[in-house]
Amino acid sequence: MPSTTMPDPRTKTAERLLASAAKVSFDPQTDIDWSAPAVPGLWYMPPERSTLYGTPLWDRMTDEQRIELTKHEVASVASVGIWFETILNQMLLRSLYDRSMTDAHARFAFTEVADECRHSMMFGRLIETLGCPDYGPGRLAHALGRPFKTFSNPTLSFAGALYVEEVLDALQREAMNDERVQPLVRAVNRVHVIEEARHMRYARDETVRQVAELGRGEQLVSRVVLSVVAAMSTARLVHPGVYASVGLDVDEAVRTARGNPAWAATRRFAARKAVDFFTEQGLIGPAERRLVWRATGLVA
Ligand SMILES: [Fe+2]
Ligand SMILES: [Fe+2]
Repeated sequence: MPSTTMPDPRTKTAERLLASAAKVSFDPQTDIDWSAPAVPGLWYMPPERSTLYGTPLWDRMTDEQRIELTKHEVASVASVGIWFETILNQMLLRSLYDRSMTDAHARFAFTEVADECRHSMMFGRLIETLGCPDYGPGRLAHALGRPFKTFSNPTLSFAGALYVEEVLDALQREAMNDERVQPLVRAVNRVHVIEEARHMRYARDETVRQVAELGRGEQLVSRVVLSVVAAMSTARLVHPGVYASVGLDVDEAVRTARGNPAWAATRRFAARKAVDFFTEQGLIGPAERRLVWRATGLVA
């Protein structure tokens, strides 16, 4: 029997997000000028966000090499974006399998999958246009992604998605407003930032609802797995291969990046909103905070 009551909060959120998607969505294949040549002298991300910024190794590099490094770093981050969007799509479709596939909540999930497919094509085309390799997240993260995308509970699916979306959002939002950055990268970031705002709202609301359903044991497991997913995906944002691509010694560059306080600050900057939200939701307890989040430099 049709209901005459007010829509529940989940439906209300979904309806609002569907209306927003109907109003502002992009087709990056046609909405972005892929043929515009790169602008000489511009960066591919704000230089302060490079993994080597501010180190003695950075000081020894030529200007050209520094710009080239930011190009490969952006390509690496984009390839990790594709990896995670593929995981996310599988988790979203899995979350629908045992529930209504026709209500507003489900229709937004399908909308999000469609968005992510366009994003992955956009990132792939960006990497190809920049002439960079498909770096990917590395073998270990690739292997660990397999059980995660197959078995994660709904809390982990949405919280994990939110984490990666928040990290990319912080970095892309900043770069899209930076006039020192290549117009192509800024255009790609703009599309992603605008469409991801809806995904993050959806994931936040759903995480709050899902956390409330967890028993104590499952909450503990979720906290531990979420910490590992966050640590792993942040550590793998920039593939060591980027250093070889710009003519640096890989071991030296990896060591330098690892000890670079500016890069640690960048990772904390990118993770901060997710960290605050997870702490508020009880998804980061004192033990994981110390053993994972602090140990990997994601909280101070
Ligand atoms: Fe995306
Ligand atoms: Fe997304």
